[in-house]
Amino acid sequence: MAQTLTILGIESSCDDTAAAVVRHTDGNPPEILSNEVFGQTELHADFGGVVPEIAARAHAEKLDVMVEAALEGAGLALADLDAIAVTAGPGLIGGVMSGVMCAKGLAAGSGKPLVGVNHLAGHALTPRLTDQLEFPYLMLLVSGGHCQFLIAHSATKFQRLGGTIDDAPGEAFDKVAKLIGLPQPGGPSIERAAKSGDPKSHKLPRPLLDREGCDMSFSGLKTAALRARDALISEQGGLHPQDQADLSASFQAAVTDVLTEKTRRALAQYLTLEPNMPAIAVAGGVAANQAIRASLSKLAESLGVVFTAPPLTLCTDNAAMIAWAGMERFRLGLIDDLTLTARPRWPLDSAAPAMLGSGKKGAKA
Ligand code: KG4
Ligand code: ZN
Repeated sequence: MAQTLTILGIESSCDDTAAAVVRHTDGNPPEILSNEVFGQTELHADFGGVVPEIAARAHAEKLDVMVEAALEGAGLALADLDAIAVTAGPGLIGGVMSGVMCAKGLAAGSGKPLVGVNHLAGHALTPRLTDQLEFPYLMLLVSGGHCQFLIAHSATKFQRLGGTIDDAPGEAFDKVAKLIGLPQPGGPSIERAAKSGDPKSHKLPRPLLDREGCDMSFSGLKTAALRARDALISEQGGLHPQDQADLSASFQAAVTDVLTEKTRRALAQYLTLEPNMPAIAVAGGVAANQAIRASLSKLAESLGVVFTAPPLTLCTDNAAMIAWAGMERFRLGLIDDLTLTARPRWPLDSAAPAMLGSGKKGAKA
């Protein structure tokens, strides 16, 4: 008989406090019964980045509220759940600890099993939640703290093919937005401004395209944007809205070109290993960018590869992906107990060499 599982997910690894309930019956598409997110953007706005202490305190205040809202939205009580899944890392440790403590309290109080989830696995498994993608597939995980190509072999086995050697693209979007006077988070601001800009107005580099393989670098691109900005300021004394638009469009085009070319290479590598499963999925906040999605989708189509990109709300941080990743672990019998600990760093592929700079925001994703 088909088994139905209902799992609560909790996410608090960066600047979103989130709770969600996902239900899945074998052989059917999963259902997101509720998906609540409290974003902390405003709390950090004056500081130009996420302040870990402020984030941790806000998570501690909001977690209960979000859990209640998620249960209410799903029309369920704790007793109706099969398990409680929580992000146990990687991320800003204060926030991860708040989430883990909250989940432990709920598990201890209700007697429900606890499942610790890797936040990156949450992003990487999202295409299975949204599109029932079968393993294996190539994954481009591209967010504010991470950028890597992974082969998802199973819910617990990920093979890293390459990634950024310095900043993550989301981080570069955020920093460039700040440099040119656009609000945070930078990705959506730059995407909006880029619509009225000329992508050819500034000649920005396409770093590491001369190097083989699919490693990437974004910090030089950010510096080049800074130089272009300074040149404009010294020429005309400041930036006009059209300058912001042109810089945004040029920067977005450079990131898009790098991601597209490196994806072409990662796909070539993946297809030699898995010729019978031509599929690529993207996830993470930067995958919400329409120009990047369009370019990657076009590339995949030209190669006859299936392209999957989750809806925007499931690209950025959310708890439905944590509930789903928890569901995949629970089905495999991978359950934690109350000794579950919060981990600031937690690579998905522990066999791959540690990256020197997996994003200066720390190990968030
Ligand atoms: O996955 P995510 O919600 O959080 C973590 O990084 O964990 O990603 C957030 C990042 C931010 O850096 C944000 O600027 C970027 O994703 N982002 C975007 C867009 N929407 C969010 N970058 C480019 N274009 C977008 N539309
Ligand atoms: Zn994330």
